[in-house]
Amino acid sequence: MNLIAAVDKNWAIGNGGRLLVSIPEDQRLFREETMGKVVVMGRKTLESLPGGQPLHGRTTVVLSRDPQFQPKGAVVCRSLEEALEELKKYPSEDIFVAGGQEIYELFLPYCDVAHITYIDYGYEADTRFPNLDESEEWRMLLAGEEQTYFDLCYEFRLYRRVKGLRK
Ligand SMILES: NC(=O)c1ccc[n+]([C@@H]2O[C@H](COP(=O)([O-])OP(=O)(O)OC[C@H]3O[C@@H](n4cnc5c(N)ncnc54)[C@H](OP(=O)(O)O)[C@@H]3O)[C@@H](O)[C@H]2O)c1
Repeated sequence: MNLIAAVDKNWAIGNGGRLLVSIPEDQRLFREETMGKVVVMGRKTLESLPGGQPLHGRTTVVLSRDPQFQPKGAVVCRSLEEALEELKKYPSEDIFVAGGQEIYELFLPYCDVAHITYIDYGYEADTRFPNLDESEEWRMLLAGEEQTYFDLCYEFRLYRRVKGLRK
């Protein structure tokens, strides 16, 4: 199972229910990597998308404990266990855990690949991704060339789990 996230240099991911920054090339890559696949997200992240709608062209599995939450075009799971059962229908490599903080933390032990856009800037933030550079269970396999978007520098990184995968 994959994780996919854009993090800043402190591994922050969001503030006030929104992304820290939108980088068009990052959004393009997210779309390319997840198109036709399965994305897993928390209720708050789904609500942060344009119109609160699931992403076009992808199967969306959303977690919420609220029985009233029934978004159109998404499969709702009420617990981690229910979501893991639902996700057994799909090849593990086609599943992308797409945030936010609560959902990254919940699914991290079940994931073995992380697609990280690393932005070399520190934002004010209230949500974070687990710092994979400080984890003995993860190694960075690849880092792309440094890119720029106005005065921001960022790079695409691929991390792989080296031990401790929970199945
Ligand atoms: N930089 C990035 O790549 C990236 C990607 C995605 C999101 N984000 C940012 O992350 C922030 C949101 O993160 P967040 O942690 O606040 O929210 P979140 O993970 O998107 O959603 C949290 C919600 O998920 C549901 N949930 C969590 N654990 C559950 C469980 N075990 N069983 C059932 N439902 C469960 C609950 O919904 P209910 O309250 O409905 O029960 C909970 O309130 C936003 O700022 C967003 O922009 C950043």
